[in-house]
Amino acid sequence: SPVSIIGAPTDVGAGDRGGRLGPEALRIAGLGEALQARGIEVVDRGNLEGPRNPWQPPVDGYRHLAEVTEWNRLAMDAVYAELASGRMPILLGGDHCLGVGSVTAAARHCRETGKTLRLLWLDAHADFNTSDVTPSGNLHGMPVACLCGLGPRELTHLGGDAPAILPSMVRQIGIRSVDEGEKRLVRQHGLDVYDMRYIDEVGMKQVMEEALAGMDDNTHLHVSFDVDFLDPGIAPGVGTTVPGGPNYREAQLVMEMISDTGRMASLDIMELNPLLDRDNMTALVAIDLVESLFGKSTLMRG
Ligand code: ARG
Ligand code: MN
Ligand code: MN
Ligand code: MN
Repeated sequence: SPVSIIGAPTDVGAGDRGGRLGPEALRIAGLGEALQARGIEVVDRGNLEGPRNPWQPPVDGYRHLAEVTEWNRLAMDAVYAELASGRMPILLGGDHCLGVGSVTAAARHCRETGKTLRLLWLDAHADFNTSDVTPSGNLHGMPVACLCGLGPRELTHLGGDAPAILPSMVRQIGIRSVDEGEKRLVRQHGLDVYDMRYIDEVGMKQVMEEALAGMDDNTHLHVSFDVDFLDPGIAPGVGTTVPGGPNYREAQLVMEMISDTGRMASLDIMELNPLLDRDNMTALVAIDLVESLFGKSTLMRG
């Protein structure tokens, strides 16, 4: 289906500043052109305009909750509008707090169209903190918890009267940094986490087969791609690098196997910080991977 690019230039949920420049870096690296070259109809909706980053310490366990909420409302409305008109939204962050708005929109679209939501969370982090256990107060460490109903009401109920998703809809891949209190929550709520140890043990092919199992023609697959998923050796341009991530080949396989399902219906590209990058290399790697996500392969298949 036709694709709409939406920029959300904010780092209001992050612990470092510069993520607000992510959407432009991805555009300059050629995201739109790369998709067009694959024969996909692409419209760039430009950037959302929300509150500035006030750069304050946490209040009651959250940094910038009001600003994060406003950005997520804007993101939710923009993503929902694209889905409602039959287009595939690509939300360019910005930091990963925006996953709340984006996935809430996908969940609403699924309710209205009778689809089943599957959320694939590609990340070094579980992003399952709450105000009680967060080491930082940064809301980009909390979006999955918020989506599952753990967090401030502003975010757990962004889409109306109930949390957007159930933990059983989530598959997390590439995880290698989970905070102490966060570990307990992840286990308690039964998140399906494919961490780096498991990837090392069984290989990425089997991991993806398991993570994508059980989908059918009625599945709406939302892919939330935190660029810090990737090994910092190939993707240094993020604020929260964690060593020991998927290498270029593993990441390509992830994207190719997602593409093969034909079920991806919405996408986030999050956490790119061009100020920490070298020559926009992380943006270029991200776009290489997105090309695979949209079906680019070396040979004809199938
Ligand atoms: N777990 C850490 C925290 O909560 C880091 C979170 C990083 N999240 C991200 N989306 N990059 O502060
Ligand atoms: Mn649809
Ligand atoms: Mn992360
Ligand atoms: Mn994340």
